[in-house]
Amino acid sequence: MKLDVILYPGLLPEQFEGALCAVIDVLRATTTIITALASGVSGICPCVNAEEARRRAKSIEDGLYLLGGEERGRRISGFHLGNSPLEYLDSNRIANRVVLFSTTNGTPAVKRAYLGSGLPVYLLALINLSAASSILVKSILDKSLREVLLVCAGGNGRPSLEDFFCAGLAVQRVRHCLLKVGISPDLSDCATIALRFAMANVGSPSEVLSIGEHGRYLRRIGFAADLEFASQIDKYQIVPVFDGDFIVTSKE
Ligand code: MLT
Repeated sequence: MKLDVILYPGLLPEQFEGALCAVIDVLRATTTIITALASGVSGICPCVNAEEARRRAKSIEDGLYLLGGEERGRRISGFHLGNSPLEYLDSNRIANRVVLFSTTNGTPAVKRAYLGSGLPVYLLALINLSAASSILVKSILDKSLREVLLVCAGGNGRPSLEDFFCAGLAVQRVRHCLLKVGISPDLSDCATIALRFAMANVGSPSEVLSIGEHGRYLRRIGFAADLEFASQIDKYQIVPVFDGDFIVTSKE
């Protein structure tokens, strides 16, 4: 069983059909999606850009959907919500609605992973780290899978420190559970480097998020509180899964 970390979607192999993918965008798309599901949204439709979100909205009755997402970190003009997880905590406002959601790196990465793997794609962040790692292990064992790709969304075709850190922590958890049932996963070099980086910084998630380029940018534009929120390891037990249409809470 091969366990690999993909630094950003541009580094995905040409062929990866049948590989189980988990997409990571700690700042902030996967953190926000987990939070939205925890607050009771009925589903999230990942869109590759704002135009797709607006187009899809036309086929849904008013009042049943919300437009959410960001461009350059800020709420898209005319959208109800941005991409701060804190905006998705108010269940009175968002429960039982579909969110048509467009972000720069996170939502395209989810769609890309689904198209290439042909399998449901899980979403991972620090706030659901252990729950998501357990579901990955369960899928590996149930479906006798041979390859797992932890796909970091990164930032505009470059790696991001916080996604890499989260991937390393997931490598540690998945590997630990597999070793317990007698499976020794074959780690790629990138997975080994991520694991070592994560272990060296395991006690300081907020610091990792603060020193990364995107964390520094979010602070500058007024979203410092999002970094604190996103660095809470295992705040939720919810694991989002994308089945090609919507991201919903996994029932596994
Ligand atoms: C993205 O998808 O690029 C991010 O989630 C950006 C952000 O809003 O912080």
